Formats: sequence, structure tokens, C-alpha cells
Amino acid sequence: MKFSKTLAFSSGELRFLDQKRLPQAEVTLKIRRWQEVVSTIQALQIRGAPAIGIAGAFGVAIAARQILGKTATPATLAAFLKASQAIHEARPTAVNLMWAVDHQFAALRKAGLLRPGPAAPIIHCLEKNAQAILEEDLSIGMRLAEAGHGLIKDGDGVLTHCNAGGLATAGMGSALSVLYRAKEAGRKFTVYVDETRPLLQGARLTTWELKRWGIPHVLICDNMAAMLMKQGRITKAITGADRIALNGDAANKIGTYGVAVLAHFHRIPFYIAAPYSTFDANTRTGAQIPIEERKPEEVLSFHGVPSAPKGTRVYNPAFDVVPAPLIRALITERGLIASPNAKKVKAFLAASAPAARHGRGARP
Ligand code: MRU
Repeated sequence: MKFSKTLAFSSGELRFLDQKRLPQAEVTLKIRRWQEVVSTIQALQIRGAPAIGIAGAFGVAIAARQILGKTATPATLAAFLKASQAIHEARPTAVNLMWAVDHQFAALRKAGLLRPGPAAPIIHCLEKNAQAILEEDLSIGMRLAEAGHGLIKDGDGVLTHCNAGGLATAGMGSALSVLYRAKEAGRKFTVYVDETRPLLQGARLTTWELKRWGIPHVLICDNMAAMLMKQGRITKAITGADRIALNGDAANKIGTYGVAVLAHFHRIPFYIAAPYSTFDANTRTGAQIPIEERKPEEVLSFHGVPSAPKGTRVYNPAFDVVPAPLIRALITERGLIASPNAKKVKAFLAASAPAARHGRGARP
């Protein structure tokens, strides 16, 4: 399948398309400091669970270059650990970020490199491991697509919320990769794109991707989905996820819970597509998933233009949780987990990579 890489790294520099500027401008940002990795993740210039995980992994490599000098000492190692912890905590909901940072430290420990000594092997190990995470994400995107595309039939109207495409991953996507593969298989369907207030990831990013792929799509405001379901225009819903608990509850962009409830009421299948790095072996149920709260300004304005009286009280949770019983199936790189529950999710994790099984056991 054709795709372009969302993130690239070479000679200590991370390059990516600034997602805050899309779709008006396609601006490539280049960063060489770990503090910029944190700030660009927090500003959603890099966003989407797998993409922030990959950026976080490179962030740890960047921090090592920046802080360790030629020889790692106990003092520079402590500063490096502190920087890595800040990357780990840049955003709280998507577990892929913590997973990727932990994965970096697991690689260092495995190679016996988390100790004072020459910095070059430490940096090399971290850059190599981050690149492997990126490449694996691309391959997972393909496998997810393969596993899920058969669900999309001719004539479907598929609702998606937020952006779970190439921009949110290394370049293939999760929910959108399924649609890209269905298009490649020749199926004719229409995608309904929720605009996704307050930050418009659907309107700005998903439409941008679907246009590039030549997939017919219709942009709707978030509050229109119910009527379209009633009219029979929407026949399926599919999104990505930021964290999936052991019992199959899944956190995703605020509004996803509403989509799932509406789909359930209208007897429309609701699917979530996600790689194993989105599953959190340490979170038993969705109630334990930390939900990021963002600044009131995002709700007090519409795409930068004030839309409410100054000082209006705001509540701005960035994610919500879909209870497992509302999910027809989780689409993973190992196939579908139909009607997810704790037993099935545990079996999936046990069959996946060792790092996934260890969950967050390898903190910096
Ligand atoms: O706040 P964002 O834009 O990072 O939220 C992203 C989402 O909710 C995506 O749907 C999720 O990360 C899955 S991306 C494959």
C-alpha cells in the first residue's frame, strides 16, 4: 500500500509534518532537543497515540545525545533519566508514549548500557531501537489493514471520529489503514468524518488524508451523526484508540463514547482498530485510564477565533472511554477480537511481543 512516513529521523534530528498547520500549510518541522519533543507532543504538532509513542522513543535518543556528552557519568545519566521521565509524562492518556519510552529503557538494560561509560553505544542503541519501533508500526498498520478491510462492504457509509490515519502513526494508520486497504481492494464506500471538536482533527486531518487517497468522504459536525445513523446513511463506525484496558474498554478522542452509544442504539457495528502498543496490561478497566484535560481556550474558540464570552467556565476532557460491550470487535495486527473481554484481551497480549506483555514494567 502507498503511504508516506509521518516521522523521520537522521543525524540526531526528528522531522515531521506540523499537524497544527494542516490542512492550510504543509510545514515540516525539524527538532534536535528533547524539550521540543515534549512541547510539540503537548501542542499536538505530533499527535495520535502511535505517533507520539514513536516521537517519544526518538525523544529519548535525542535526550541521550543532548545530555550525555562523550561519556555518561552518574550525573549526566541522572539528568538523562529526568528528561526521559518528562517525555514519558508529556501526555497522560495514550499508553503508546509510556510504552515506547519504557521500551527504550528495556533495550538499554538488555544491552547492559544503562550505566556510566562511553555515550556512543547508548545513543546508537536508542536510535536503532526507536527506528525499529517506527518500522514495526508501519508493518503493524499493514497487518491491521489486512485483518480489518473485509469488514467494509460495497455501499457502506463508515463513520470515523478524530484522526486515526497515517498522521497519527508512522504513516499507515489504524482505523484509516483498514479503509485504505478496502479502497485498494476495489470496494466502494463513503466515509463520514466527524469534525471532532474542539481541535478538529477530523475536519483538518482525516479529510486531508482521505482526499489524498481518493476516498469519497463527507464532513459532518459531531452532532449530526445520530441523524445520519437514523437515516441509514451510516452503516458502520470505526475509530482508533489511545489506550485499551485489560477488559477491552477503550479510551479514544472525546466524543467516541457518544459515537459508540449511538451506534449501539441504531444497531450499527462499532469497531476499534489498534496495535498491541495501545493495550495496557496494567490497566484493568477503562475507569483507571487517566483522561487528559486540556486548556479552556480550546473550547472558548473555534479554530483560533473566540466563540464564547471571555471567562466562561469550561470543562475540556480530551478523551473518553468506550465500554467493551459497545465494541463489536477490536481490529488488531493479529486479527479481530470480537466482543472483547478480559479473557480475550489477555490471550492477545500473551501472544504479542514480550514488551507488550511486560506492560509498563521498565520505567526510566
Ligand atoms: O488528541 P489526539 O489528536 O492525539 O487524539 C488522538 C486520538 O484520539 C486518535 O483517535 C488515537 O490516538 C488513535 S490514532 C491511531
